[in-house]
Amino acid sequence: MKIKTVAVIGSGTMGSGIAHVFAIKGFPVTLIDNSENALQKARKNIENNLDRQIKKGIIDETLKNSALQNLELKIGLKNISKDTDLIVEAIFEDKNLKSLLFSELNNLIKENSIFASNTSAISITELSTFSRPENFIGMHFMNPVPIMKLVEIVKGYSTSLETIETIKELTLFLDKTPVIVNDFPGFVSNRILMPMINEAIYALMEGVSSAEEIDTVFKLGMNHPMGPLTLADFIGLDVCLAIMNVLYEGFNDSKYRACPLLKKMVAAKKLGKKVGEGFYKYE
Ligand SMILES: NC(=O)c1ccc[n+]([C@@H]2O[C@H](COP(=O)([O-])OP(=O)(O)OC[C@H]3O[C@@H](n4cnc5c(N)ncnc54)[C@H](O)[C@@H]3O)[C@@H](O)[C@H]2O)c1
Repeated sequence: MKIKTVAVIGSGTMGSGIAHVFAIKGFPVTLIDNSENALQKARKNIENNLDRQIKKGIIDETLKNSALQNLELKIGLKNISKDTDLIVEAIFEDKNLKSLLFSELNNLIKENSIFASNTSAISITELSTFSRPENFIGMHFMNPVPIMKLVEIVKGYSTSLETIETIKELTLFLDKTPVIVNDFPGFVSNRILMPMINEAIYALMEGVSSAEEIDTVFKLGMNHPMGPLTLADFIGLDVCLAIMNVLYEGFNDSKYRACPLLKKMVAAKKLGKKVGEGFYKYE
């Protein structure tokens, strides 16, 4: 199947980045959120990131303008076109919310369209049962989407070969590298990354070292481009907690329990960069 039109649901950190990369590649994209404020923030974000790409010589002014023309921002699902070929979901990391959304979308979109979830860890197989299992897949973009090359493509139990091939080809067309993985909690990326971030938060909570020093150990000692606590701030501490909970429940193993400090910071709404404060403060 050839994907010609795309809708992205959820215009936060990930949804705005995903809409950006599709729009730059010439796809008409409808970016949908249920919050006006989030959509305004997304537009600003996308414009700033396009300007950053111009400064770096990656795109020119003409491509920026055509990307913005390809982009349509809408409140609520009522504005989605029935004929959209691909829906990419990037709403909160909450199984119930995502399931509800897919049940609703199933009645609004033509039958042969593909539904992709950008979930960080929730079972693609489970989510697929709320809509069209064969045409359902995980399309796990990395943050920041315009920069990161990887898309982890997650096959659910019933995902068809045709759906996998279509999404693989599309990922390559977006100049990203697809890696196809099976559906297990956290897939590959977050099964390995998130316990490391969680352990760094334990180290901070237990006073092993300060946030800056823990991050420095990883930057200089392991050659990571940023330390685990900075990365947690970039991902969003609410997203990190949601992923740890999926791992904990999915594997029924206490080694995945979320660090109490992570829970406390989420309760205090110190969610990281997107709210201006997490382990560090941001302008
Ligand atoms: N943040 C990351 O680094 C990262 C990386 C990879 C994947 N993910 C995954 O991507 C998804 C989105 O994460 P995010 O960090 O962009 O979250 P976010 O909190 O920045 O944005 C979520 C957006 O979804 C909107 N939303 C919520 N429910 C909605 C609904 N029913 N209809 C329309 N809009 C709705 C919210 O208003 C918000 O704007 C999550 O599943 C997350 O696990 C996040």
